[in-house]
Amino acid sequence: MPTRSKDRFLVFGAPDIGTAEIEEVVDSIQRGWLGTGPKVAAFEEAFRQYKEAGHAVAVNSCTAALHLSMIAAGIAPGDEIIVPAMTFCSTVNAIIHANAVPVLVDVDPTTMNIDPNQVAAKITSKTKGIICVHFAGRACDMDAICKICNRYDLKLIEDCAHAIETEYKGRKTGTFGDFGCFSFYVTKNVITGEGGMVVAAKESDAARIKTLALHGMSKDAWKRFADEGYKHYQVVECGFKYNMMDIQAAIGIHQLKRVEKNWIARKKIWNRYNEAFKHLPCILPSDPASDTRHGYHLYTPLIDIDKTGRSRDWVLDAMTHENIGVGVHYIPVHLHPFYQKEYGWEKGDFPHAEWIGDRTVSLPLSPALTEQDVNDVIAAFTKVLT
Ligand SMILES: Cc1ncc(COP(=O)(O)O)c(C=O)c1O
Repeated sequence: MPTRSKDRFLVFGAPDIGTAEIEEVVDSIQRGWLGTGPKVAAFEEAFRQYKEAGHAVAVNSCTAALHLSMIAAGIAPGDEIIVPAMTFCSTVNAIIHANAVPVLVDVDPTTMNIDPNQVAAKITSKTKGIICVHFAGRACDMDAICKICNRYDLKLIEDCAHAIETEYKGRKTGTFGDFGCFSFYVTKNVITGEGGMVVAAKESDAARIKTLALHGMSKDAWKRFADEGYKHYQVVECGFKYNMMDIQAAIGIHQLKRVEKNWIARKKIWNRYNEAFKHLPCILPSDPASDTRHGYHLYTPLIDIDKTGRSRDWVLDAMTHENIGVGVHYIPVHLHPFYQKEYGWEKGDFPHAEWIGDRTVSLPLSPALTEQDVNDVIAAFTKVLT
């Protein structure tokens, strides 16, 4: 059997977890306060400060953050929300869960972000908002998007699942619109296992999201079992069970302290890949725009399928055979059967998203990668594409 590039399988998106996280989780367990509590409050405040945001509310996923943002934005049944065709399904599901209608827009083939030039054509009297997705950590064209939102009086929700460190013209992503939604899923730049955060410009919006995330119970209901004495709560609306646990926040607090260090580590890997792959039959991720800061969440070369004569799926199999875990971000939304059935979308509707979706491969970019891991990924990808 031919030799593989790596002896043991390299898991895609393996997290970087230090002893500080482990000790903090143990501390939560020993104290017996596992659910929402002081560590969640501390993580919210640390994240708010990091993002230079008005308010921050921790939840149990970015999906929950997006859903609650829809509700707090006042999105009503039948309202239309514009969203890029190249995103994770949950961006769109959050719209549907709010009984609103997703309206897809194609992406720019270079940035892979929503193409603002195509947004205006999709605006109708029912359009109430835009969810932009800072794909792979690259900032969307926020000047153009904010201009459209102001002109048509639309709510702006930023899906920042990939974009914790991302900035646009010196301003942090998530703070441009009404809501910024973040993911701390295990493959993300800051992790809590599962977890998410909403940053909100208005205090009243943040307060509503906090209430909605815990059954619709009145403010600070999580304190009802604390040593300050039992506090009655009131249910003020029909909410959800979307709250973050202290065990999750225990991880997040220490992850956030290493956010810069890990960003630098990923940037270094990114640059090594760019250098190593520049002569391979693939299109490298385009350089970040000069007045932005890239989050370096996903490294997504596009396979030149005409030059290689190989499909992207063949490359996925070949990389897996080399013991390198890979990802696909994404098969465009409109090609999934549920959305086709529900909204009548078809192949051919969003050609740029499809072009990317046919060619994209995500290579490991975790700060947990060793020098040897990075060398092995380079060796494997070079072998597979040569
Ligand atoms: C662009 C995007 N939006 C939303 C999500 C949902 O995040 P979560 O898993 O925290 O709900 C993801 C997760 O991968 C994502 O990549």
